[in-house]
Amino acid sequence: QNEIYLQGLADNKPPFTTNPDELEASARERLGPGPFWYVAGSAGTGATARANREAFDRWRIVPRMLTDATTRHLGTSLLGTELPAPVLLAPIGVQSILHPEGELATARAAAELGVPFILSTASSHTIEDVAEAAGDAARWFQLYWPNDPDVCASILDRARQAGFTVLVVTLDTWTLAWRPHDLDQSYLPFLRGVGTAIPFSDPAFRAGLAAPPEEDLPMAILRWVQLFTGTDRGWDQLAFLREHWDGPIVLKGIQHPDDARKAVDAGVSGIVVSNHGGRQVDGAVASLDVLPEIAEAVGEQVEVLFDSGVRSGADVVKALALGAKAVLLGRPFAYGLAHGGEVGVRHVLRGLLADFDLTLGLSGHRSPAELNREVLRRR
Ligand code: FNR
Repeated sequence: QNEIYLQGLADNKPPFTTNPDELEASARERLGPGPFWYVAGSAGTGATARANREAFDRWRIVPRMLTDATTRHLGTSLLGTELPAPVLLAPIGVQSILHPEGELATARAAAELGVPFILSTASSHTIEDVAEAAGDAARWFQLYWPNDPDVCASILDRARQAGFTVLVVTLDTWTLAWRPHDLDQSYLPFLRGVGTAIPFSDPAFRAGLAAPPEEDLPMAILRWVQLFTGTDRGWDQLAFLREHWDGPIVLKGIQHPDDARKAVDAGVSGIVVSNHGGRQVDGAVASLDVLPEIAEAVGEQVEVLFDSGVRSGADVVKALALGAKAVLLGRPFAYGLAHGGEVGVRHVLRGLLADFDLTLGLSGHRSPAELNREVLRRR
């Protein structure tokens, strides 16, 4: 904040807006409708995407005075990773439809700030290339669970070899939801081949093809679709992942306290309370609305992370006060990427961290650990 004001004295404005709604609006102008709606779109009528925001709006922070919050410590330790703040970048696939450097740019921006970037299985760059871009930063890998065990084991092995330590398994997208914007654009980004870098470069995936993807793209894409969509599983099958991943496992897409308890029984280390930013079940409950009961049920046993609808520092305060240990930021950083690659992601992320720091301090708190339900009132 100080930096922005000081630069302002020299008549230098920030390169892009710091307002999340305006950032989305200007991303719409910059990107064509296909890439824009890939990010902005959600399932069905968009009811759940809207509900995610409305849920934040129902909670208000009650600031406390004279608490000596001048010096603050935002850092949190999470599954063996020291975070500078309780914020991570959510896995977002196919980032090169927003900027040619895609995940490489995001990984660099996140690494510079020490914020973990969760790499999606649907990345447009390979695991190995993103690992290199991430340098010394924490590396978390998100799995879309392929239904061929050899491909699954091979992808996990590559992630491990490339220095990824935490595995985030997304449960809510075993098949793509009804997404009118995607259907209207009649595209799947994958059809352009940009969301397939990880499987296409995978030896086990390639072994299942009659011809390499470079020679027969339609067949390779068909195999991709068969592998990654259409197969729901049972809780018992998590054992397979446990066998092939010796680090912490986090289950993403939990929305019911009973499922959270099952996750604990399955021996995972964490969960992400998430409805995928409203992109899967239209009409599903707002992610924030189920956070308190889930945190209450399992918060002592596993790390409870949260996403879906986080746009501001106040939102981070609210999610933490309602029981999250950390939050994942989704669409806003994708809009940052669309604006200026690495510079754009850094701009969005630094803005969110500064906003969180100021909101935390001005509401009378010195660290995330001081946040609890007492901090909020429901409207
Ligand atoms: C996603 N999300 C997602 N999740 C995941 O586990 N793997 C993925 O590849 C993707 N891809 C993806 C693409 C785009 C364009 C969006 C917007 C989202 C979901 C993401 O990780 C996160 O759950 C939501 O984005 C959180 O909601 P907000 O912050 O966007 O409201």
